[in-house]
Amino acid sequence: MAIPNSQSMTVLGIESSCDDTSVALIKHKANIHPQVLSLIVLNQNHLHKQYGGIVPEIAARAHSDKLDYCTIEALRQANSKVHDIDLVSVTAGPGLIGGVLSGVAFAKGLSWGIGIPIVGVNHLAAHALSPGLTTECHFPYLCLLISGGHCQFLAVLSPKEYRRLGGTIDDAPGEAFDKTARHLGLPQPGGPSIEKLAKNGVSDRYHFPRPLTGREGCDLSFSGLKTAFLREVEKIHGTTGSVSEQQQADLCASFQKAVSDTLRIKSQTAITQFETQMKQKPTFFALTGGVAANHELRGSIEALCHDNGIKFYAPPLKYCTDNGAMIAWAGLQLFYLGQADGLELQARSRWPLDPNSRPLLGFGKKGAKA
Ligand code: KG4
Ligand code: ZN
Repeated sequence: MAIPNSQSMTVLGIESSCDDTSVALIKHKANIHPQVLSLIVLNQNHLHKQYGGIVPEIAARAHSDKLDYCTIEALRQANSKVHDIDLVSVTAGPGLIGGVLSGVAFAKGLSWGIGIPIVGVNHLAAHALSPGLTTECHFPYLCLLISGGHCQFLAVLSPKEYRRLGGTIDDAPGEAFDKTARHLGLPQPGGPSIEKLAKNGVSDRYHFPRPLTGREGCDLSFSGLKTAFLREVEKIHGTTGSVSEQQQADLCASFQKAVSDTLRIKSQTAITQFETQMKQKPTFFALTGGVAANHELRGSIEALCHDNGIKFYAPPLKYCTDNGAMIAWAGLQLFYLGQADGLELQARSRWPLDPNSRPLLGFGKKGAKA
């Protein structure tokens, strides 16, 4: 369903699949970049801190407590009224089911109350489509989605069609950064803490593996790397009784380099696989998800894309981490393609983007892996 050139759409996007409650209002007119009128993100770190991980029940309760506040604030900051909203877009999965249910129930109430359509969005699709909030991206393109709960190479064929070229067989890189930081007693989320210390470190002081890089395909694994880090920390403790500031910095730099090298090597494989499967070279490589904030990694993938003659793009950080704006934008694109869900919209804990790809086993930060 294409919108007439003169008409604009105002979309409310709701995200509650993990530990960020986020609501955004975006406005879109055909042939013009979407405009993010407001973006509210409330993090729950302080609620989960004492438990050493996200407690799903606490997360769900906090989302349902804060969704109305976030919506009112998003409308206020956008200088808009509830009746200005044309469409409600909500994360309907995958994620922690209690949180997803809170968002879906809230969105249904709102859409029914105002009498406007609702669209249920796959959270992973929203990450993959997030570059479109700030730049032009033509389908099909290659996307590396790396966050605290997910890690996959995707051929993005359209807003509703994806091919999974590969992904992690165990931990996501963000999970590995978070757990590694915990071993050193650094604040959560771990990624920014590791990156900060790594700035003063020597990246070849400790030798960590580049998992699965000797194997064909672009599947990844980060659990062994995380264990190798732990062993190294234990070894240092065993010999000197503590880890010095310089050793911490060198450990962080060496770990960050191992993650970045691994993702660069596998990105090269993904580029080749994209070309084989799509019968065309990718012209655009999107790096999305919270870990895309890492400068070492951004630089490394950008250089790889440059060598391959591919345009590289990583969205601004606020659109890389979980946010309502990417949900609004993904929902709007699905709406243009004719999707409108009713009150029967279901929340899903698992929701693979590519139904033909192998199911991923295990549970991560966001619950069951998609
Ligand atoms: O996309 P996101 O906000 O939430 C999930 O969907 O998981 O990603 C959060 C993850 C965390 O694990 C965090 O440690 C990681 O992104 N992260 C980083 C950096 N900033 C955030 N990892 C490495 N370097 C960073 N600068
Ligand atoms: Zn996410």
